[in-house]
Amino acid sequence: MKIDGVLYRTIWPSDDGASVVIVDQTRLPHRFETVTLGTLEEAAHAIRVMQVRGAPLIGVTAAYGLALALVRDASDAALAQAIELLAGQRPTAINLRWALEEMRSVLQPQPPGDRACRAFAKAAEMADEDVETCRRIGGHGLKLIEEIAKTKPAGEPVNILTHCNAGWLACVDWGTATSPIYHAHDAGIPVHVWVDETRPRNQGAALTAFELGAHGVPHTLIVDNAGGHLMQHGKVDLCIVGTDRVAANGDVANKIGTYLKALAAHDTGVPFYVALPYSTIDWTLSSGRDIPIEERGADEVLVMQGRTADGTVAEVEIAAPGSPAANPAFDVTPARLVTGLITERGIALASREGLAALYPERRESA
Ligand code: MRU
Repeated sequence: MKIDGVLYRTIWPSDDGASVVIVDQTRLPHRFETVTLGTLEEAAHAIRVMQVRGAPLIGVTAAYGLALALVRDASDAALAQAIELLAGQRPTAINLRWALEEMRSVLQPQPPGDRACRAFAKAAEMADEDVETCRRIGGHGLKLIEEIAKTKPAGEPVNILTHCNAGWLACVDWGTATSPIYHAHDAGIPVHVWVDETRPRNQGAALTAFELGAHGVPHTLIVDNAGGHLMQHGKVDLCIVGTDRVAANGDVANKIGTYLKALAAHDTGVPFYVALPYSTIDWTLSSGRDIPIEERGADEVLVMQGRTADGTVAEVEIAAPGSPAANPAFDVTPARLVTGLITERGIALASREGLAALYPERRESA
């Protein structure tokens, strides 16, 4: 994606090939800054504090983090320890464990002396594959948007609601939920996006609005509770969200609040689609009931970050002093509320049969 005329991915190897550069997402939308990660610990930290976030990007960052670890020590023990450290940083997005297991299967058979070099190459392949996968998701989602556009009066945009950030900032490029939107916009189909602010970390306000704006996609920021009202009043044609883990039966974990949007969409007859790469499917879980839900710190609920009139970025307390807060970061939307899963292979019904038809080589292994 282009920021100020410069093409960026969210992660790339540094020129010397010994470190990796990321866009620091904790600084957005106020500052577009990059950070260089030179060690395993720095990569793990970037994932934990959400300098990088979004399921696919967490996976690619972990792959590079493993490569950085192997530069220092490429022994079997170091490989296993680095995988354990990285995998423990965030529990819900399965892409993190998927990427590390892919890396393990490639690296374990290599002689230790070859591992670091092979790891950097494999991480780069994963990054490229993510870009291509998201591009394909966009192509399939575009057809949905085209069909809806045909039903609208000429010039009226297709109104799409999205939650959290499943955009290029959550992946390496394109995004999952946003890829169909970018493809439609680039094809000249009028689209307008309702962007849920997505408390507590405001990924919608800070990241989705930022990237849609940078790409020139018309959008409007709304508070998290506005979506149901807009759907009741015919102002949403389609919801598209991303996901951190899909169980083999089509249940979907995504940022907290997604379930409520799916309920509202179901009640009002608005199609509710979830966009994902194959690496987000957890074939070992027969239902979403067993997806681990990340609990994050109360400070994210009690304190908000913003920019003051003089340009200073500051944190302010927003709650009654002493109030405790709970912060479950994800929820599970049952498959029955999901109209379809937009994947790189096409659109599947959110069901065991739907997923099995698209991925016949994969079997539920629970
Ligand atoms: O906590 P985050 O910001 O990592 O959560 C991100 C989401 O919930 C995204 O919707 C999901 O990872 C899909 S990203 C393509």
